[in-house]
Amino acid sequence: MSDQLIFQPSAAAIARTHTTKERYEEQYQRSVTDPNGFWAEQAQRLDWVKFPTVIKNTSFQYPDVSIKWFEDGVLNVAYNCIDRHLADRGDDVAIIWEPDNPEDEAEYITYRTLHEKVCRCANVLKSLGVKKGDRVTIYLPMIPQAAYAMLACARIGAVHSVVFGGFSPDALAGRINDCDSAVVITADEGRRGGKAVPLKANVDKALQDCPGVQKVLVVHNTGADVAMKGSRDIWWHEAAAGVEPFNDPEPMNAEDPLFILYTSGSTGKPKGVLHTQGGYLTYASLTHELSFDYKRGEVFWCTADVGWVTGHSYIVYGPLANGATTVMFEGIPSWPDCGRFWQVVERHKVNIFHTAPTAIRALMGAGSEWADKYEMSSLRLLGTVGEPINPEAWLWYHEHVGKGRCEIVDAWWQTETGGHMIAPFPGAIPTKPGSATMPFYGVQPVVLSPEGQLQEQTKAEGVLAIKDSWPGQMRTVYGDHQRFVDTYFSQYKGYYFTGDGCRRDEDGYYWITGRVDDVLNVSGHRLGTAEVESALVAHPKVSEAAVVGYPHAVKGQGIYCYVTLMAGEQSSDELVSELKAWVRKEIGPIATPDLIQWAPGLPKTRSGKIMRRILRKVAENDFGSLGDTSTLADPAVVDDLIENRQNR
Ligand code: WTA
Repeated sequence: MSDQLIFQPSAAAIARTHTTKERYEEQYQRSVTDPNGFWAEQAQRLDWVKFPTVIKNTSFQYPDVSIKWFEDGVLNVAYNCIDRHLADRGDDVAIIWEPDNPEDEAEYITYRTLHEKVCRCANVLKSLGVKKGDRVTIYLPMIPQAAYAMLACARIGAVHSVVFGGFSPDALAGRINDCDSAVVITADEGRRGGKAVPLKANVDKALQDCPGVQKVLVVHNTGADVAMKGSRDIWWHEAAAGVEPFNDPEPMNAEDPLFILYTSGSTGKPKGVLHTQGGYLTYASLTHELSFDYKRGEVFWCTADVGWVTGHSYIVYGPLANGATTVMFEGIPSWPDCGRFWQVVERHKVNIFHTAPTAIRALMGAGSEWADKYEMSSLRLLGTVGEPINPEAWLWYHEHVGKGRCEIVDAWWQTETGGHMIAPFPGAIPTKPGSATMPFYGVQPVVLSPEGQLQEQTKAEGVLAIKDSWPGQMRTVYGDHQRFVDTYFSQYKGYYFTGDGCRRDEDGYYWITGRVDDVLNVSGHRLGTAEVESALVAHPKVSEAAVVGYPHAVKGQGIYCYVTLMAGEQSSDELVSELKAWVRKEIGPIATPDLIQWAPGLPKTRSGKIMRRILRKVAENDFGSLGDTSTLADPAVVDDLIENRQNR
């Protein structure tokens, strides 16, 4: 081993896990040399109407990319997440719901109650005309109805598209139209950090541009007075009271679509990542059990929002498929104060806690006294996901939240991958702060040079790609298979390209260094620079815009915008505020620019292509090493950009 900081698994972690280092290595080898045998065995963790006889049928060969797992299998995802647990754990708590306001009561939803709630919602959807294969858009806050709605769709074979409640009406409308949803599920309002989020009003605005939507199912959540439109809008609680509390789950083919989740790429509008039934659930459930070494009765809390993939796989599908108790938290880490997470840990005796580096850094900044105020001896394991974690934050998490006792699981994965791809098996793999460590079963990471040369030596640096398929992989971009093939399989032939840079150290550990494409990761939220740019140029005073990321102490990356105004327009501080508010309104608060620099000209090649490399360097305040600028049409613009840089 190298001389880097290494944490050996604790005696407690070793004692409870079935996965020793040797077993991991042996199973890993088997998973990649005999994927059919290995995954046929893993698929037995689910209940199938018809067990698959064909296991893996996949090709990464451009342009004939095709991914199928368990293709002749038949199952129902909601049945696997609920019904099959009823006989022996119907009274176990499936979901603990913790409200935004700590003064309000938590809810404890057993598997039996979950069954009834989901069946009623399924019957309501059916009564609204939703059929197998239809798309349903879910725009809800972090309330149990979000999980009910997802599972109800899965139960009747409808395809859900959950849209994060922080997205604007415009962003919502685009997503509704792209997948052609006739039904939208929302709430009167959401609550976050003591503030109301006007979800129904946002839906009303969005639907002005969505002619295909026929019905809106509305959860009565805060009781706010909202406009209900004639025959279009229906109260959830009224509809649910009028239907049967049971519903026969629809038998689904393993490769039928389960959900669409929109995510940002380096170009164009967000793409609808499509996941299917059998492979996704097998993978979400196996990774949930093994990455966290989950055992029955433990309380598992992932702080993500169901609007992101982490919420899909590790609040809803993975934990529920495993009969776990999963916490759903409506609030934010800093309200009413920075002890809120730890108060919830104490209150619900959370055993496994899973959050994002941005939250860890923010809470670290607020001071460790908050974590010291609460009784957190229930904690056994801490997860981190969504962006690279700096070793300093990792160590703080380990020491002040985990009190030096808890295993830290840094899991690297993506919306596209369905579940964890690189993460330490607790109790088996020694950890290094900042490294996601080793691949999960079936995952074959490779490091390529940016030009595509396979780096065969252990110690290597370059871009991260994956050599072969795993069951949780996305199957296509909804409605645009060519985009799927081009985005992920065209640049490095024969591989799935992740868009991330990485380093592999002498021990074979992977260190993810962040995106190498034009995707930003702001507080763990994925955003395309192209989306922010197109919002900016939609403003009447803006002629051109280029957006890049820059290092930000809390958010990981901040949003840095170079803006060229229309001839005759004057720059001003008011216009900076106006543009920030504009982007917020166009996309949502997560896309609010941090820094705006007026750029009379952008660095372009003679063929008119913006040289982003230079813009990134200036934004990073690292303009000493701009590289070759001789190919620029007007090299003088660079001096102006450096002179007026904002990140000093
Ligand atoms: C980044 C979130 C470093 C990465 C699950 C990836 C990470 C993108 C990690 C996907 C990690 C996620 N360490 N970087 N542990 N986890 N990322 O689709 O850049 O929202 O490509 O999925 O987040 O973001 P997405």
